[in-house]
Parts: sequence; C-alpha cells; structure tokens
Amino acid sequence: MNVSFRRTSVKDLRRLNELVNDPDVCRFLNLVLPVSMKSTREFYEDGGEGGNMLYSIIVDGEVAGSVCLRPRKKDSKQAHVAEFGISIGKWYWGVGVGGRAIDYIVNEGRKRGIKRIEFEVVADNRRARRLYVKHGFREEGRKKNSFIIDGRFHDTIVMARLLA
Ligand SMILES: CC(C)(COP(=O)(O)OP(=O)(O)OC[C@H]1O[C@@H](n2cnc3c(N)ncnc32)[C@H](O)[C@@H]1OP(=O)(O)O)[C@@H](O)C(=O)NCCC(=O)NCCS
Repeated sequence: MNVSFRRTSVKDLRRLNELVNDPDVCRFLNLVLPVSMKSTREFYEDGGEGGNMLYSIIVDGEVAGSVCLRPRKKDSKQAHVAEFGISIGKWYWGVGVGGRAIDYIVNEGRKRGIKRIEFEVVADNRRARRLYVKHGFREEGRKKNSFIIDGRFHDTIVMARLLA
C-alpha cells in the first residue's frame, strides 16, 4: 500500500465530497447529510484565519481522505495553536492510514511553528480516540451533550498535543 499526501486542489473536491457523504464516515463529523459540494468547496476555500493547511491523503493513487490543520489568527496570542481534522474513506480504515496522516500533519505543523494541536472528538468515536492517544494526544476535558447524532446527545472530548 502506497500512502502519500498532497495539498488539496479543486480537482480532489468531488471525491472528498463523496467520501464524507458516506453515513459511516460522516457519523462523528460535524457535518449534516447530505453534504453539498458548495460546503465542501467553502471548507477548502476558507482555510481559517491563520492560513489553510488542507491535504489530500492518496492511497495507491486514489484520493482516500483528507487531513487538515486550521491555524488560529496570525496576529494573536493563539497564533501557535491549530485545530486538527481528519476523514478517511471506509475502505481504507484499520490499515494505519490515519496514523500516517497524523505523523504527516504534525510535521507540517511543526514547520509552520505550530506548538499546540487541538480538536474535539465525540466520546463514542473509539477508533479515533485510540488512534489519537497512540499518537501522543492527551485528553484534556469533556464537554457534556455538546454533539447531537440522530437526535441523541453525545459528549465530546477535548484533545491536544503539544509540539516540542
Ligand atoms: C478516525 C479515523 C481517522 C481513523 O483512521 P484509521 O486509519 O481507520 O485508523 P486505524 O483503524 O488504523 O487505527 C485506529 C485504532 O483504533 C483501533 N480500533 C478500531 N476499531 C475500534 C473500535 N471499535 N474500538 C476501539 N478501537 C478500535 C484500531 O485497532 C487501531 O488501533 P491499533 O493500531 O492499536 O490496532 C478514520 O476511521 C475516519 O476517518 N473515520 C471517519 C471520520 C472521523 O471519525 N474522523 C475523526 C473525527 S475527530
């Protein structure tokens, strides 16, 4: 299996949109089905105040998912902080692609001077939590009922990793 990464370009968006429209992929993402092409394009264009770091994950030549960091505003006291996000097509789960993507984005973050990567993960997203802990993220707190899936409340866990 060959795994590589490239900056997401417009030509990847159709495939990335298809991937997040899979209910299993979307389940723990903060997206509501159906996810329109317009919102996928907006996500791509609006990289956050500190500059866009959105990468496509390529497995054996195919777009298999995306991984991103959204750095906070440059002229701020949180310029060293970036929010992390990842989504991978179901066919590629469980074979270490997520781990490779984290290693890649952490390295890119370091090169940009990011010192803290943070995000929230739904407490029931066991697969993701296990992956994050294995890759040096720590659980910092729990937000009660902060997510609703199919009409039911879920807690989210605040996770972060400090980069040396
Ligand atoms: C979360 C995600 C990025 C993980 O990537 P991945 O490449 O599938 O990661 P892997 O399955 O290789 O690794 C996850 C780990 O969880 C384990 N795992 C798998 N299913 C599990 C489960 N139901 N409960 C607990 N652990 C589980 C795996 O065994 C693996 O651990 P190991 O390496 O010690 O064996 C991917 O599944 C995904 O994109 N999901 C949909 C979108 C999403 O939820 N994104 C995260 C939002 S915060």
